[in-house]
Amino acid sequence: MLGPVILAASRSDRMRRFVSAAPGTKQVVARFIAGETVDQVVPVIEDAAAKGLEVTLDVVGEDITTREQAFAARDAYLELIDRLKGLELGARAEMSVKLSMFGQALEGGHELALANVRPVVEAAAEIGTTVTLDAEDHTTLDSMFAIHEELRKDFPQTGCVIQAYLFRTEDDARRLAASGSRVRIVKGAYKEPASVAYQDKAEIDKAYVRVLKILLEGEGYPMIGSHDPRLIAVTQELARRAGRKLDEYEFQMLYGIRSEEHLRLAAEGHRMRVYTAYGTDWYGYFMRRLAEKPANLLFFVRSMITK
Ligand code: FDA
Repeated sequence: MLGPVILAASRSDRMRRFVSAAPGTKQVVARFIAGETVDQVVPVIEDAAAKGLEVTLDVVGEDITTREQAFAARDAYLELIDRLKGLELGARAEMSVKLSMFGQALEGGHELALANVRPVVEAAAEIGTTVTLDAEDHTTLDSMFAIHEELRKDFPQTGCVIQAYLFRTEDDARRLAASGSRVRIVKGAYKEPASVAYQDKAEIDKAYVRVLKILLEGEGYPMIGSHDPRLIAVTQELARRAGRKLDEYEFQMLYGIRSEEHLRLAAEGHRMRVYTAYGTDWYGYFMRRLAEKPANLLFFVRSMITK
């Protein structure tokens, strides 16, 4: 019940101002956001690497309104990649990007987002790593997949995300499960209408398993983005049945969520990548984390009251 309300609030400017100014916000945000600057996130990356974890780095931000903001997003990623050069982590540290932050929703946005993301993908390739295009709300996906296809002509390792809650996703999975592709499957984090997406949790989980089967039985490299213990166990069983070795797929989880599970899976020999978000424009990302688990909201409200 609460989830959709929080997701609606994630798009409200008034709520953004309220939440950003609320006492105690910073403390709760810090659970999910690894820092505000590159300097703050570098030790987090080094710590993850020392623990045998891999990372995908997200400079938070989305729904920008000017071209200047889109250029600034591109530059923030270029600055990050420049810092990663010195760490020599190669593909152990990749990038996740939201095309809305690169200008996708502005006039001429498809071309603008492609022009802005290309130098980031190029710079990532120069240091031996890659970029994954996050999936945002369903209205943006045709453009995202077209940009993904375009980038893959020169950088075949560029990844993308598909969302189990959307009716279209099984078809997308079949198209994408080809040799050389990198595809992250997640449940889906946006408020979507019943005309395009399953609304019921059990239906979404069933759809997730169907997509998992397509990806694991296919030729590409599946990236399993979930904290759900049942889906992790199902993945392990389906991967075994499909004859996949441990390095032929990977698990991915979010920074700050089920951290002990990150370590457990890595210790079992799995590739475990932690989606590590940082930056100052954390509002949308943070609200989606609250919506996924209403207990987070209680924690947040309590921290405001006790301040
Ligand atoms: P589920 O929500 O059922 O959670 C299972 C368990 O995990 C919960 O019981 C709880 O213990 C824990 N948990 C989950 N979320 C939590 C939270 N916020 N706080 C505390 N505990 C929590 N979505 C999208 O639309 N586009 C995208 O590009 C991405 N990218 C992405 C990358 C990665 C690496 C992950 C892990 C997730 C995403 N997502 C995403 C988000 C995804 O769609 C989904 O909303 C969340 O992963 C929550 O779903 P779970 O599969 O974890 O299951």
